Amino acid sequence: MCGIIGYTGNENSIPLVLEGIKNLEYRGYDSFGCAFHGDSNSIEVRKNVGRINNIIEEYGITNEVSDRSIAHTRWATHGGVTKENSHPLLDCSGKIAVVHNGIIENFQELKDNLHSHAFVSETDTEVLPHLIEQEIKEGKTFEDAVMAAAGKIKGFSSFVAMSADSDSILAVKNGSPLVLGLKENGTFVASDVPSFLKHTNKVVYLFDGDVIAINKSGFKILKTDNPGKHKARDVNFAISDVEKGKYRHFMLKEITEQQKLISSLAESNLSYLNNASSLIAVSRKVYIIGSGSSFHVALLAANLFRDLGKDAIAVQPQDLYNYSKLIASEDIFIIVSQSGETMDIVEALPLIKRNKKIGIINTEESTLSNAVDYFININAGHEKGVAATKTFTMSAILVCLLAMFSFGQEKEAVNDLKLLDINLYNLFVPSVYKIIKETSAAIKNEKDMFFLGRGNDYIAAMEAALKMKEVTYIHSEAIDSATFKHGPLALVSKGVYSIAIVSERFKDREINNLKEVKARNGKIIGLANEKLDVFDVFIRSQPAGIFSFVPQIIISQLLAYYVSLAKHIDPDHPRNLAKAVTTK
Ligand code: F6R
Repeated sequence: MCGIIGYTGNENSIPLVLEGIKNLEYRGYDSFGCAFHGDSNSIEVRKNVGRINNIIEEYGITNEVSDRSIAHTRWATHGGVTKENSHPLLDCSGKIAVVHNGIIENFQELKDNLHSHAFVSETDTEVLPHLIEQEIKEGKTFEDAVMAAAGKIKGFSSFVAMSADSDSILAVKNGSPLVLGLKENGTFVASDVPSFLKHTNKVVYLFDGDVIAINKSGFKILKTDNPGKHKARDVNFAISDVEKGKYRHFMLKEITEQQKLISSLAESNLSYLNNASSLIAVSRKVYIIGSGSSFHVALLAANLFRDLGKDAIAVQPQDLYNYSKLIASEDIFIIVSQSGETMDIVEALPLIKRNKKIGIINTEESTLSNAVDYFININAGHEKGVAATKTFTMSAILVCLLAMFSFGQEKEAVNDLKLLDINLYNLFVPSVYKIIKETSAAIKNEKDMFFLGRGNDYIAAMEAALKMKEVTYIHSEAIDSATFKHGPLALVSKGVYSIAIVSERFKDREINNLKEVKARNGKIIGLANEKLDVFDVFIRSQPAGIFSFVPQIIISQLLAYYVSLAKHIDPDHPRNLAKAVTTK
């Protein structure tokens, strides 16, 4: 779960990879580093912990010039967040530099065999430059040495290597994403398109098993299991998708974008859902899998399927092994993933290899989109804020649409979507922002908060609590209101805040539960369609049929965002997190 980039070409490569790595910061931001080909045939490395801008200033790297560079932004797995552990990592001679994304499972065994090599970090990655160095010592060219090293490592990982003695930068893909960016007189290789989008939108997606050399005039395939498939194509990513524009943070930009995305979906032709929904209609049982926020999407969808009368279950990918004796070949899987890279899901795929799979994914070219039978693009545009916001909402809406379509209830579904679209005009208004900001100021010093609800309101509470903990570090716990009295109520004391999500379906029962909280002098922030006596603070969330969870979620995203600001936390880069979880 790191970001990597390399560039070689006629332009100065250093500012290009520095700018590129900034655009990959959402993949990890513990530490940062860059290596470039220096005068007198050296490899120059500049790296440190901390934010990219600090390091750029510290080293003044922008004054340097080189025709080829590689760079990395890290999310620590093997070894702490230290300068030594940051990438690029070098061989003993200092002539080979490697940046890497993923995990080398057999690194200890490989390291043990490299007795004569001096290691300076605690990372798994460092075996790579030494392995390459060893192969060169034994007579191989740089290219052959990289291929040999790639053949020795186990686990999902991709890496980019450069040598002082070679004009080419080599890229190896296995599990983690890599894409080439082609421009006149220069070539990029990177983890993701936005890193070089300003310079070119002509791309070639790489395949697992590929070893590619890039040079000024393009690329050369050294090894592939997919001959003939490396076609260059234009991607239609909008630059506005990857820049903050008028917004202070990506998180706020992405929360706000939801209104437009929902409006366009409501106006669009949804017939592309028909094939997948027909498959669901004839299936025996629907399994919906996802992690984190995407698991909450799965829970919402499974509730709707069951309401409609379809046997459905939401399962976290790491628990799928527990169902292996129950899964029949007529069962269908819906995989929900923003990144399309989540390793927990990738690892579970062998368990469902004979089942039809529908992917609700926001990345057109990804491990998961390539593994499913029907790919449905979430189409939320690039999401850079680490906390999922627009991708949560749009994927949840799409799976709910699929459920309704599979029951012939297209008209009802579209009506609810149109109602949601109209309701959102009353949400993104100054009066709502005002109450959300006031509430954020009131709760910013809380240590613990509870998020309560029943049925779908409880699932919305789970997602709301996850957003709050991610970007504010307040311990936020979602509890089914019906369960509160069975133990957790012991945690409520004078002044402790609970956020209650209350929709019409369970209102009366919910009021009873909330009275129990009030009786212990707890405070309640209510997200509901009407103001109830039990609420200390009321934020209106208008219902929209099967999509009633959407306004509840948007309000809770805004609440988390403004609490984060009130606590001077950068919501786009919360501590310890990264956007795509490609580790086990
Ligand atoms: C929460 C969040 C994570 C992801 C989870 C799955 O805000 O972003 O919980 O939802 O890591 O990621 P994807 O959807 O990429 O599979």
